[in-house]
Amino acid sequence: MKRVPAFIMILALVVLAIYVINWDYARVAAGGQNAIDSLVGDPDSTPPLFESSDEKSDLTLINDDNPLARGFKPQELVSLYELVERPFDLIEESICMKASAAQAMQEMFWAAQADGEFGFIITSGYRSYAEQTVLFTTNQNGYVARPGASEHQSGLAFDVGVYYNENIEQTAQYRWLVEHCGEFGFILRYPPDKEAITGVPFEPWHFRYVGVPYAQEIMGAGITLEEYLGH
Ligand code: DAL
Ligand code: ZN
Repeated sequence: MKRVPAFIMILALVVLAIYVINWDYARVAAGGQNAIDSLVGDPDSTPPLFESSDEKSDLTLINDDNPLARGFKPQELVSLYELVERPFDLIEESICMKASAAQAMQEMFWAAQADGEFGFIITSGYRSYAEQTVLFTTNQNGYVARPGASEHQSGLAFDVGVYYNENIEQTAQYRWLVEHCGEFGFILRYPPDKEAITGVPFEPWHFRYVGVPYAQEIMGAGITLEEYLGH
């Protein structure tokens, strides 16, 4: 049999190696995407509620059954870090909120200070669909909403903590917020004992802007946004 020249053998081996490496990479990449899809569901299977260019009502219900579109981003996002004289601290400089909610937040926390309640730290505000996807895929604890189902994507919700106490629900600052948030257009969105309705366990740190007087009605009646909107 005729001998195959060495350089042809080497060339064939190199081509084979490149093919195998590429095939394996494509297989691993597809596997990773499938794993993410199985966690977050197929976003294209639920009809988008809003397109990215639409604005929406402050009273809009956002949950698993009423998700925001993947491309939805609120107009008028403002950086909380750039607000002059903030009556709260920020855990990071990049936190943004929708302008109407940011203004109401400022007024609420100034009022808290006037009543002697200090030490609030905002830990989260607006989160994009992509940021929520990362959080959701790394925290399967029931406290992180499925991408699209998070109010944080609307720019209308914030999470808050207080200095020197990890359990905000045990603090005077929390009691002040629950008593007064409605006056400023905010609701405690995931109250205790309402998980069967909201689908989310008690979150004493998560407040949602819906506007006055809706917030006053909701907080006054001790109900959830789902109940208020008849869902
Ligand atoms: N923690 C709330 C449910 C969210 O992720 O939007
Ligand atoms: Zn939250």
